[in-house]
Amino acid sequence: MSINTPALERKSRNLIVTGGAGFIGANFVHHWCGKYPGDRVVVLDALTYAGNRATIAPLEGKANLRFVHGDICDRPLIDGLLKEENIDLIVHFAAESHVDRSILGPGAFVQTNVVGTFTLLEAFRQHWNEKGQPDSFLFHHVSTDEVYGSLGPEDPAFTETTPYQPNSPYSASKAGSDHLVRAYYHTYGMPTLMTNCSNNYGPYHFPEKLIPLMCINILLGKPLPVYGDGQNVRDWLYVGDHCSAIDAVIHGSKPGETYNVGGNNEVKNIDLVHKLCELMDELAPNLPVRPSKQLITFVKDRPGHDRRYAIDATKLKTDLGWTPAQTVETGLRQTVEWYLANQDWWKPLLSAEYQDYYQKVYATC
Ligand code: NAD
Ligand code: DAU
Repeated sequence: MSINTPALERKSRNLIVTGGAGFIGANFVHHWCGKYPGDRVVVLDALTYAGNRATIAPLEGKANLRFVHGDICDRPLIDGLLKEENIDLIVHFAAESHVDRSILGPGAFVQTNVVGTFTLLEAFRQHWNEKGQPDSFLFHHVSTDEVYGSLGPEDPAFTETTPYQPNSPYSASKAGSDHLVRAYYHTYGMPTLMTNCSNNYGPYHFPEKLIPLMCINILLGKPLPVYGDGQNVRDWLYVGDHCSAIDAVIHGSKPGETYNVGGNNEVKNIDLVHKLCELMDELAPNLPVRPSKQLITFVKDRPGHDRRYAIDATKLKTDLGWTPAQTVETGLRQTVEWYLANQDWWKPLLSAEYQDYYQKVYATC
């Protein structure tokens, strides 16, 4: 990362991190507590299947961190926290985040991503009004590049002005939440910021997503299910780079702005899976199947599967000097090493509930 936020010159903050026990939220909590130890950090998380308190447990008690087990749709709870903790910043990660689950059951996506975001916005608006509308208050909404829809092979990458065209219940619900955030700035002048990010990967990623799923299945000698023809393209961003980008935007941007965040790492799914197989063959001592690429299995495509995402992050570079520190080569190597070294973290996640989900998505594959 090319910027260095001047930690010594800044005023300390009291923030709520929603979804701080999930993949990116927890990485962000580690990042923030390490960099700004004087800040009060309240993690609000409902601990759905994707939430894991163990991920932030090392910080509880040590850092100035409080964990609250609760739902972002619970308005009285949020009102109480905003007052009690004198909150001036919300960093909003909490969401239902997996496209395949949104196809199986979209209701939870509308509830958390749309109604939950609305509930947070309303609570924060009231709190901001009661405090006299301070300029220093901020609502940072973490969103996705999926709201822009799908690109063809030669299309230019998504910019902040690309029209929204969400294709899955997940991306449609995220688009709904983005529009609400935009409206709160435009209508009420409430200080909001938004980042739309490409595919993250790295430590603490729940096993259902492509990269951890492939790493874990290679280690277990299970088939590696590649949807469709494997030619879909994603832009991969190391999660630590995403955290540094959000940090840069919170500290450097003016309210009402939106920034795209990407890794400059467009890769076809099948090529990514091959890279993971090669890394595992090199780094894992006792693989059940070697070379692990023998496990690659083409399966039925995801319904409505977006073909390509690509991010143009020029605005973030120009305005704030941010660029990603990791390439896909360095980031994937670190990630494979992490999944090898942290089997105690991911093995308990392969629960009966997870097996049931896995059956539903992959049984017909
Ligand atoms: P995740 O599924 O790993 O974690 C989501 C967290 O939110 C979990 O801890 C879960 O318990 C919590 N949560 C869910 N519903 C809740 C509710 N009603 N109240 C309180 N907490 C609740 O998700 P992630 O991959 O870490 O994604 C975080 C955010 O970043 C999401 O908003 C997602 O849309 C966005 N995003 C993710 C990616 C990615 O590649 N993972 C990329 C771009 C944007
Ligand atoms: O682009 C940002 C988005 O990236 C985030 O908003 C989402 O929260 C996050 O889940 C992610 O969405 P994707 O659908 O792109 O990620 P996923 O890891 O599920 O899939 C990545 C690609 O790999 C996608 O083209 C589908 C494919 N895939 C996925 C799985 C789980 C497979 O081929 N096989 C699989 O088993």
